Amino acid sequence: MQLIFSHNVWLHICFVCLFVCVSRVACTCACTVDQYYYGDRNDIQHAGVQYILDSVVDQLLKNPDRRFIYVETAFFYRWWKRQSSSMQQTVRQLVNEGRLEFVNGGWCMSDEATTHYSAVIDQMTLGLRFLNETFGPCGRPRVAWHIDPFGHAREHASMFAQMGYDGFFFGRLDYQDRDRRMLDKEQELLWRASDSLTPPMADLLTGILPNGYNPPNGFCWDQSCDDPPIRDDPDLEDYNVDDVLKRFLTIANGQSSVYKTNHIIMTMGSDFQYENANLWYKNLDKLILYVNALQANGSNVNVLYSTPSCYLQELHRANLTWALKTDDFFPYADNAHDFWTGYFTSRPALKRYERISNSNLQTCNQLEVLGGPVSRKGPFGEGESQTMKKAMAVAQHHDAVSGTEKQHVANDYARRLANGWKNCQVLVSNSLAALSGSLAPRIHCDNLNISVCPLTETSKKFSVNVYNPLARPVTWLVRLPVNGTAYIVSDARGKSVECEVVPVSSATREVRRNRGFAVNELVFLVQAPPLGFTTYSVSLHAHGPPPASTRQRTPAAIQNRFLRVTFDPDTGLLSSLSNLKTKQTIKLTQNFYWYNASDGNNSLSNQPSGAYIFRPNSSTPFVISKTAKTESIRTAVVQEVRQWFAPWVSQVVRLHADSRALELEWTVGPLPIDDDLGKEVITRLDTSIKTSQYFYTDSNGREVLRRKTDFRPTWHLRQSEPIAGNYYPINSRAFIKVLYTDDADQLTVVTDRSQGGGSISNGSLEIMLHRRLLYDDMRGVAEPLNETSDIFPEGLVVRGRLLLSLDPPASAADAHRPLAQGVVLQPLLTFTDGDLHRNTQLEFSGLQAALPPAVHLLTLTQWDEGLVLLRLEHQFQSWESKVNSQPVTVNLQKLFSTLVVLGVSELNLSANQWKEEMRRFHWTPQTDFSTWEMTLRPMEIRTFLLRVR
Ligand SMILES: *[C@@H]1O[C@H](CO)[C@@H](O)[C@H](O)[C@H]1NC(C)=O
Ligand SMILES: *[C@@H]1O[C@H](CO)[C@@H](O)[C@H](O)[C@H]1NC(C)=O
Ligand SMILES: *[C@@H]1O[C@H](CO)[C@@H](O)[C@H](O)[C@H]1NC(C)=O
Ligand SMILES: *[C@@H]1O[C@H](CO)[C@@H](O)[C@H](O)[C@H]1NC(C)=O
Ligand SMILES: *[C@@H]1O[C@H](CO)[C@@H](O)[C@H](O)[C@H]1NC(C)=O
Repeated sequence: MQLIFSHNVWLHICFVCLFVCVSRVACTCACTVDQYYYGDRNDIQHAGVQYILDSVVDQLLKNPDRRFIYVETAFFYRWWKRQSSSMQQTVRQLVNEGRLEFVNGGWCMSDEATTHYSAVIDQMTLGLRFLNETFGPCGRPRVAWHIDPFGHAREHASMFAQMGYDGFFFGRLDYQDRDRRMLDKEQELLWRASDSLTPPMADLLTGILPNGYNPPNGFCWDQSCDDPPIRDDPDLEDYNVDDVLKRFLTIANGQSSVYKTNHIIMTMGSDFQYENANLWYKNLDKLILYVNALQANGSNVNVLYSTPSCYLQELHRANLTWALKTDDFFPYADNAHDFWTGYFTSRPALKRYERISNSNLQTCNQLEVLGGPVSRKGPFGEGESQTMKKAMAVAQHHDAVSGTEKQHVANDYARRLANGWKNCQVLVSNSLAALSGSLAPRIHCDNLNISVCPLTETSKKFSVNVYNPLARPVTWLVRLPVNGTAYIVSDARGKSVECEVVPVSSATREVRRNRGFAVNELVFLVQAPPLGFTTYSVSLHAHGPPPASTRQRTPAAIQNRFLRVTFDPDTGLLSSLSNLKTKQTIKLTQNFYWYNASDGNNSLSNQPSGAYIFRPNSSTPFVISKTAKTESIRTAVVQEVRQWFAPWVSQVVRLHADSRALELEWTVGPLPIDDDLGKEVITRLDTSIKTSQYFYTDSNGREVLRRKTDFRPTWHLRQSEPIAGNYYPINSRAFIKVLYTDDADQLTVVTDRSQGGGSISNGSLEIMLHRRLLYDDMRGVAEPLNETSDIFPEGLVVRGRLLLSLDPPASAADAHRPLAQGVVLQPLLTFTDGDLHRNTQLEFSGLQAALPPAVHLLTLTQWDEGLVLLRLEHQFQSWESKVNSQPVTVNLQKLFSTLVVLGVSELNLSANQWKEEMRRFHWTPQTDFSTWEMTLRPMEIRTFLLRVR
């Protein structure tokens, strides 16, 4: 809810939105979602979201002027389900009259630094769909509202614009940036959030709130605050109206001097307030009454209850021009030594689990459509995708995938994802049974990354179904734990496939502990059709050749027909990378280091490194080992150099026969803390590329932004943290190249989860992989980031992959776009023991043909009976590729192989509004195509509702 103060009519009109907000899942992140709702861990964090709604609705009914805004639909949904129909009717009435307004309206308020756009679009769609179906157009939020996220991504603004929001408000930005904007009255600006979409498609009016998400000083009237209430009985001794008014007017005038229009907004409320809403409303009613009464004596201040959309309308009506911003709001610092760049990496295992869960969810959604209704009710039970959709949606929260929650809360998010996946596995099995005609039980192996799969380890004959969720064919290296020494593998046509058996590495044995005992890995390349599956059969070969053996010497090089990598024989480290097709070679050294985390005991500041904050106590990291012990394996399918740096750091440098990227599979942990030093582990790539301080990182996995060390595009930076102040989120890729030359070298690193990184010195790119800290950073977690688990009581071990490609900048995106999509949406393997039924369909594609390289099939999900939601995306920026940065046209009727498309309507990005009703944008789509042909321009995402059979 909000109040608006408006200066008086005859001088100037102006609002102050005294505003109240609640409904945030966890700014202090102490409780799980359920605990917050019921308020049942009040020993940890007092918060009972259910009482807030009970209390606020009651108070809104008492005075028609009062307003309230509600942000996160996940919580609202829980409350709504439990209400009587008469209460629901009352709330509908409040919504229709604009007294209760939804803002943002996603399932949660997502994090901006560590989320992937595909999951953000999904979680927004989930929340906004509920609001539309429950309240119709009056429930549709017009304003995006991210009062708490710790820095703001350009891609989020772009998505919000395409979802039809008219404006965006947030609370946190760099303190130097804010100071400059206050002076220049640029706290409200026009964010041009895409360099490729035609304006105003991605333009978003963006406002910075005056007090974060808090009320002005001295004006907090909640049971959780201790500011004095307004005591307005003149007969009583502690009458304080004059004092309140004086303080209030001082604040209002001060605030209006740093904003551009005569209207200002004030947020009245904070985390978990309004459980007893009477306290707030009673005092706000009085405040409004007394402030406005001063108008009789010439005051020009007018205050009223308002909402963000109402405030935004006044900004619009003011008809001013707004500063244009084209970069983003990272990194965020709230003081000279307090950079919120640690959470880019915090809880790397949860970050990877969230990312792979997204891949699994998209597969589940697609198979629900392709397999038809029987997928939801099949031979293996009731499958459903809703639990996974909701689990993924809450995992996007700014204290979830960000890694900034307490340990037990992180465990709760992971448990929700696991539970969702369990339900989806039933759906996937049902769908694959329907599509293949085989009812043989299907086994999922979720721990293949650590060579654990009981079926493949024990079975003498099994088959592997490889489902590819991408709309283009993929080649994928399969590595299966086995105990035999030789196998025969054949593809869906019965043709035998080259395969090899290699010993499981000691690093893998170490990390899997006693969860599996396979001694070998069976490796072979699979080729999976677009949006479909193929099946390989594997059988033990009793008299086959012996498995490949490891060599203890560092090889001079490994190579395939695309890439060659050399190693330094003395150190065992990488020494160069060549692209054999383009004949490029760079010097490349890679090693692992750790920063000694600040413990807060420091003359400059007492800020320690923690879940949010990254603050190394020195700018020079310690090298973990100058040399790596190595062993290597060379087979026709894959070549590996296995490097050991320390008992807690190892890596496999891997190149398979058909890969255009070098894989670095790192395993880091448990980080030792017996020296009482918190550690932040990075890997650093030092190259011969002359980067002149520039490097590039993606925004939420989509558009790439240029970064420069010790520099911000919109203000003159006083750098106070040479490492932490140069870190940026890397969601899916980062690269370095020589500036302004298109035929030089570009080294791209594709990541498998969100991580933080930077380019501190010329030619260098570093990525933070894992962190273990001994102090809380005083931003609300109230725990040190010191991850352990049942399996790793001495500290978490984390494994992940980086993919490196070297290309000329002019064609680098042609390589890294599909590479990154292949990591985000990776094939799903399922297994069946023994022989498959003779009539089993071994291969299937849901598409008539692969989509063109520029087009990504972002969403295919069941919407309703006979209705399917489809999103097609142009995945190239306008400047990125000579070949692919061109408009492409797709014919929706010729898209699917098994679905007959009967009708199509286009929606906004979040699917809660018909495109033709979207008033925000004024562009005219090209009309020289038939209605089935849809053209996508660079970076465009188009969302369709298809009627199908
Ligand atoms: C307006 O001014 C008069 C004369 O000074 C005073 O008596 C009255 O209380 C004032 N009204 C308000 C609302 O402050
Ligand atoms: C807005 O300002 C422009 C330029 O100053 C002016 O031409 C236009 O008429 C104004 N529009 C309104 C609605 O006042
Ligand atoms: C595989 O071999 C290892 C080592 O010989 C053994 O410990 C393990 O039990 C075997 N697994 C199976 C399923 O036989
Ligand atoms: C970190 O975790 C380890 C293992 O549980 C524990 O022994 C140690 O006391 C913890 N340290 C801090 C500062 O929490
Ligand atoms: C919004 O919900 C209404 C029902 O309340 C439905 O008729 C309409 O189709 C929905 N709009 C969209 C874009 O889905």
